[in-house]
Amino acid sequence: MLIRYKKILEKIAMGLLSFMPDEKDIKKLQATIKQYETLENWQLYLWKEEDDMIGLIGVVIESEETVLIQHLTVNPSFRNQGIGRKMLQQMKEIYCNKEFKANDVTASYVGKCGTEV
Ligand SMILES: CC(C)(COP(=O)(O)OP(=O)(O)OC[C@H]1O[C@@H](n2cnc3c(N)ncnc32)[C@H](O)[C@@H]1OP(=O)(O)O)[C@@H](O)C(=O)NCCC(=O)NCCS
Repeated sequence: MLIRYKKILEKIAMGLLSFMPDEKDIKKLQATIKQYETLENWQLYLWKEEDDMIGLIGVVIESEETVLIQHLTVNPSFRNQGIGRKMLQQMKEIYCNKEFKANDVTASYVGKCGTEV
C-alpha cells in the first residue's frame, strides 16, 4: 500500500529515488527530496509491502485537472512483479478526479501501463 512520505523515511526514499536515471548525483537527490518536503504541490509516496518500503512514486499536482508523474521506482529485487503498476493504480484512486501525465523519463513505462492502469 502507498504511504505518504515523512521525514523519518528520508533515507529509504533517497535510496529508492536514486534508481531514477536523472537522480544519481547526491546533491540533486537532496534537492529533490527537499522539494517534496517543502512544496505543497509536490507529493511523494512509498510503497509498503509487509514491513519493507520497496517502491516510490512522486507527483506534481500541476492544476485542478492534472497530475504529473515525475518519479516512479521499484527496488530492483522486487521488479517485474506488478508493483509499479499497483502504485499507479493507487495513485489514480487517490487523485481520482485528475488526469495523469508523464514526463520524458516516466512516459515509456506509464504509457506501457496505459489504459490497463
Ligand atoms: C519502471 C519500474 C518502476 C517498473 O516497476 P515494476 O514494478 O518492475 O513494473 P511492473 O512489474 O508493473 O511491469 C514490468 C514491465 O514493465 C516494463 N518496463 C520496465 N521499465 C520500463 C520502462 N522504462 N519503459 C517501458 N517499460 C518498462 C518491463 O520490461 C516489464 O514488461 P513486461 O511485463 O512486458 O515483461 C522499475 O523498472 C524501475 O524502478 N526502474 C528504474 C527507475 C526508472 O527508470 N524509472 C523511470 C521509468 S518509470
